[in-house]
Amino acid sequence: MEKTFVMIKPDAMQKSLAFEVFSRLEKAGLKPVAMKMLKLDDVNLDVHYAHHADKSFFNDLKTFMKESPVIASVWEGENAVTKVRELIGATNPEQASAGTVRHDYGENIQRNLVHASDGPDTAKEEIGRFFNENEVINW
Ligand code: CDP
Ligand code: MG
Repeated sequence: MEKTFVMIKPDAMQKSLAFEVFSRLEKAGLKPVAMKMLKLDDVNLDVHYAHHADKSFFNDLKTFMKESPVIASVWEGENAVTKVRELIGATNPEQASAGTVRHDYGENIQRNLVHASDGPDTAKEEIGRFFNENEVINW
């Protein structure tokens, strides 16, 4: 079964929306198989957002991602990667479809509540970066 990496970002933590997001994943038939709360640092963020290192928004994004703790998680299900990306919506909340997390609660293109892997290969990489094998539970 496909797995994907989902991270609740600091804005969602501040707005007490972490479990609203998780609830939507559960209702869509996805199953949590790993979860941990952590505070990100520059080392984590330089790797996680390495593909955005040359972008104008990179430093602001890192500052935002260090504002509060985050919750890293892994979700399993059929087409989990695509399903989660559909549930969270487009990066920019203004462009996100009605009923998606980012449409419903996103403040702006930076403070958009949640990160989710954009493909199966990225998912494997991100899961491996945040979790040891024995922290991903087969159930
Ligand atoms: O998160 P997603 O994969 O939808 O978008 P991305 O293009 O991979 O960008 C990663 C994150 O950078 C976004 O979720 C935003 O939080 C942030 N971002 C930003 O602050 N300003 C932008 N113009 C684009 C993205
Ligand atoms: Mg992305």
